[in-house]
Amino acid sequence: MMELSSCLIVFHRLLIRLLLFTIFVSNYISFASVQQLFCHDEERSALLQFKDSFVIDKSASSFEGAYPKVLQWKSSSNCCLWDGIDCDAETGHVIGLDLSSSCLFGSINSNSTLFTLVHLQMLSLADNHFNFSQIPAAIVQLSGLTYLNLSSSTLYGQVPFEISNLTRLSSLDVSSNYDPDTGEKFLQLRNPKFKTLVRNLLGLEILILSYVDISSEVPDLLTNFTSLTTLHLSKCELYGDFPAKLFQLPNLQSLIVQFNENLTGRFPEFQQRSPLTTLRLRGTKFSGSLPYSIEKLDSLDMLDVRSCNFSGPIPFSLGKLTQLTYLNLRGNNFSGEIPSSLRNLIHLTLLSIAENQITGPIPLWLGNLTKLTMLRLQHNLLHGPVPQSLSMLVNLEKLNIRDNNLGGNLKFDMFINMKSLTHLRLGHTNLSLIFGKANRNATSHQFKSLDMSSCKLRKFPHFLRHQNELEVLLLGGNKISGQIPIWMWNTSTHTLIELDVRNNSLRGFDQLPNQVLPWINLAMFDISLNKFLGPLPIPPPSIVHYDVSKNMLTGEMPPLFCTMSSLRNLDLSNNNLDGIVPKCLGNSSSALSILSLRNNSFHGMIPQLCSSNNGSQLKIIDISYNQLQGKLPRSLSHCLMLEAIIVSNNQLRDSFPSWLGSLPELKLLILHQNGFYGTIEKPKKDLDFSNLQVLDMSSNSFTDNRFEGEISEVFGNLKALHSLNFSNNMLTGCIPSSFGNLTELESLDLSQNNLSCRIPQELKQLGFLASFNVSHNNLTGPIPQGKQFYAFDSSSFYENPELCGEPLLKKCGNSESLPSPPEDDHEDSKSIFKMDWIFILAGYISGLVVGVVLADIMMKRTPG
Ligand SMILES: *[C@@H]1O[C@H](CO)[C@@H](O)[C@H](O)[C@H]1NC(C)=O
Ligand SMILES: *[C@@H]1O[C@H](CO)[C@@H](O)[C@H](O)[C@H]1NC(C)=O
Ligand SMILES: *[C@@H]1O[C@H](CO)[C@@H](O)[C@H](O)[C@H]1NC(C)=O
Ligand SMILES: *[C@@H]1O[C@H](CO)[C@@H](O)[C@H](O)[C@H]1NC(C)=O
Ligand SMILES: *[C@@H]1O[C@H](CO)[C@@H](O)[C@H](O)[C@H]1NC(C)=O
Ligand SMILES: *[C@@H]1O[C@H](CO)[C@@H](O)[C@H](O)[C@H]1NC(C)=O
Ligand SMILES: *[C@@H]1O[C@H](CO)[C@@H](O)[C@H](O)[C@H]1NC(C)=O
Ligand SMILES: *[C@@H]1O[C@H](CO)[C@@H](O)[C@H](O)[C@H]1NC(C)=O
Ligand SMILES: *[C@@H]1O[C@H](CO)[C@@H](O)[C@H](O)[C@H]1NC(C)=O
Repeated sequence: MMELSSCLIVFHRLLIRLLLFTIFVSNYISFASVQQLFCHDEERSALLQFKDSFVIDKSASSFEGAYPKVLQWKSSSNCCLWDGIDCDAETGHVIGLDLSSSCLFGSINSNSTLFTLVHLQMLSLADNHFNFSQIPAAIVQLSGLTYLNLSSSTLYGQVPFEISNLTRLSSLDVSSNYDPDTGEKFLQLRNPKFKTLVRNLLGLEILILSYVDISSEVPDLLTNFTSLTTLHLSKCELYGDFPAKLFQLPNLQSLIVQFNENLTGRFPEFQQRSPLTTLRLRGTKFSGSLPYSIEKLDSLDMLDVRSCNFSGPIPFSLGKLTQLTYLNLRGNNFSGEIPSSLRNLIHLTLLSIAENQITGPIPLWLGNLTKLTMLRLQHNLLHGPVPQSLSMLVNLEKLNIRDNNLGGNLKFDMFINMKSLTHLRLGHTNLSLIFGKANRNATSHQFKSLDMSSCKLRKFPHFLRHQNELEVLLLGGNKISGQIPIWMWNTSTHTLIELDVRNNSLRGFDQLPNQVLPWINLAMFDISLNKFLGPLPIPPPSIVHYDVSKNMLTGEMPPLFCTMSSLRNLDLSNNNLDGIVPKCLGNSSSALSILSLRNNSFHGMIPQLCSSNNGSQLKIIDISYNQLQGKLPRSLSHCLMLEAIIVSNNQLRDSFPSWLGSLPELKLLILHQNGFYGTIEKPKKDLDFSNLQVLDMSSNSFTDNRFEGEISEVFGNLKALHSLNFSNNMLTGCIPSSFGNLTELESLDLSQNNLSCRIPQELKQLGFLASFNVSHNNLTGPIPQGKQFYAFDSSSFYENPELCGEPLLKKCGNSESLPSPPEDDHEDSKSIFKMDWIFILAGYISGLVVGVVLADIMMKRTPG
């Protein structure tokens, strides 16, 4: 019995052990596959409902490796094993949900079952398309979140206050909810503001708000966020002064505040080493110098201060940041030489010092920075030779030294050996390019972009005939004469986008079949300022910018130009073209922005421009100096973008086009020397012309413009006018006193009319008036005295028998004299005038052609 019982006891113990072992083993097993055991039913169904609230759409995610993770979620299976799910080892609750780049498309709101997953600690819905939903306020129910990523997911509206209650967050990313095409930002931080949002999130390590419309200052408060490692605030409309202390956050590794145009700031003196590896301030108004103490940032890998307002020398200590792979100082006001210490930055792949005021030579040691793929030195004051050592840069893809004062000879052969070099810009450096043997034999090296502008070339370089991948070829400002060689018609026919041979002495296209340009993707074609003869070359339909101005081209303008739907700038000015302007131009593409036919021999009527109703982009029409006849086409009133109409020196016959007054952007109306006629008295309704700055209705001879009658008072309403010219018409009556309201007026020419009465005293209010001419009229009485009137030449008043007072010799009788006003600082107003005028013209000189078109006017009208 005893034995049996002891046996039983032993057995029992064994059993217990076995049981314990089983428990241990099963525990062990459950540890290994805990998720198998614990998937909470309600969480599974919440996840499935969440899944079902979306459709799967491949285009909802932009990441290349995106795939719909939810597709293999099945109601029968263990949710802890699903793709994108992480469960707690102990409790089996879903604590992590990563549905980034999962092709989810659809709306989300606070009713979503997602917000019942209250154990979540990590949530990423990044790179999906939530159809412009707001970030649901119910997010606050996920109070255990430490990681929240809602970037690039087409969420819209105010970032909810509730996020500021997620006090456990260590990583918050709501960036890049914006339209990449328009730049429109979908999310904003107004209420709550930035400061309120982050106030309680002191544990943040990562804060990424790029492309959120924050529109506030960077809160000082952030300097207390000592755990921050990453702070990214690109394109947030930040303004004010950036708190310099933020540079010294002890754990900060990545600071990106680029593209906040109104954000100012300066570097502090760095007291201690910093773990910063990435620092991007590009496109802000940071200013001051780079402090010597920047050497303390010795972990820096990337330093980008492009397009800021930094100045002073590049500090020698920058050479101590030997980890740098990317150094971009472009577009500041740095001066002095390139410090030799930069030779230590042997890991650099990009070095850009472009667009500063750097002097001295291009250093030889640059050839030792062999990891460089991009070297940009353009737009500086560098001089001396281009060192041969640069040919050691075998990884270099892009080299730009354009616009410097280098001078001397440069053997092009050195570039042939730089195997990776595809983009080479040497223009405007006063270099003389020399082509040696390599020029003949270089058949293998293919360039994409070549700028050899103003390199004193006399011929098309021979090696070009082997180039099959050129996209950009700039040969302007050389001394190339003769014809464009026949082999060019086989060069890069599929790739060439931009061809510029302007300002040479070229005469023609050698055997170009039917005058049709061979480059099927050409967008920019500029042969201006040459001696080309013959008919217009025909561009492909891809053409955007076509400039053949200042040549000796003849023949007619083919109607084909009407069908080029991308054409924006068409400049045929200063040639010997004739025939009519094709009628179809009236219905042509809405892309056309600048049309210049100036100084040719076109005749016939002006086509009915903008007659098709598809939003014309036409900004500038210059058809001056031709033999065009008829009226101004009334369709012009549909060209709502028009800024300048220049039709001077033609044979148009029409009355004053007050109907153009409704064009909201019109700044320039030049009718000079045509057959305009009629009165400018009492227009039917008030004159609009709210932005008109220059109005020229003058004429030169008795055969052209004949405006008659009185000048209506309503011209005093053209408040934006800077220049008004009525010279040589048959105007009668008084100078309207309403002209005293044209406070922007800088130039007023009423000479050679039949105006009578006194010169209104109100004109003394015109503080910017610098040019004034009323000669050859019948004005009477005293010339207003004082202010800017002191500055006018006596010839401004000649041939008005009844006019008296300074600067004329004729003294006024007592009855006529008026009290002399106090002395005034007319000198000032004159200097203001000059600057203002140039500034305003520069404002609407938007393209090359416009530059040419308006430069004349500017030259003519800028006094002194
Ligand atoms: C997206 O939003 C639009 C407009 O609110 C709505 O009509 C459409 O049904 C939504 N699409 C989805 C998939 O939710
Ligand atoms: C959420 O659901 C409730 C009840 O079903 C409904 O009244 C409410 O409009 C819903 N809210 C939203 C934002 O859809
Ligand atoms: C958020 O998700 C996007 C897309 O998956 C990713 O690129 C980004 O690094 C994530 N942000 C953070 C802070 O992890
Ligand atoms: C930082 O924290 C300290 C202590 O909590 C506080 O006194 C100070 O006002 C905070 N600084 C800012 C800029 O909010
Ligand atoms: C380039 O590096 C080599 C080897 O380190 C060195 O001998 C040479 O002096 C360097 N050249 C320049 C111009 O710094
Ligand atoms: C251009 O270089 C030549 C020598 O090659 C020099 O004589 C000339 O002064 C330079 N021109 C300018 C504008 O620097
Ligand atoms: C006004 O036009 C006439 C005739 O075209 C011209 O001679 C004169 O210089 C112009 N006045 C001003 C101020 O430009
Ligand atoms: C000048 O403008 C003011 C305000 O627009 C107007 O009241 C006044 O009558 C104008 N003066 C003349 C002389 O037209
Ligand atoms: C004023 O105009 C007349 C003729 O139009 C011209 O001879 C004279 O030089 C002009 N004076 C000024 C100052 O422009």
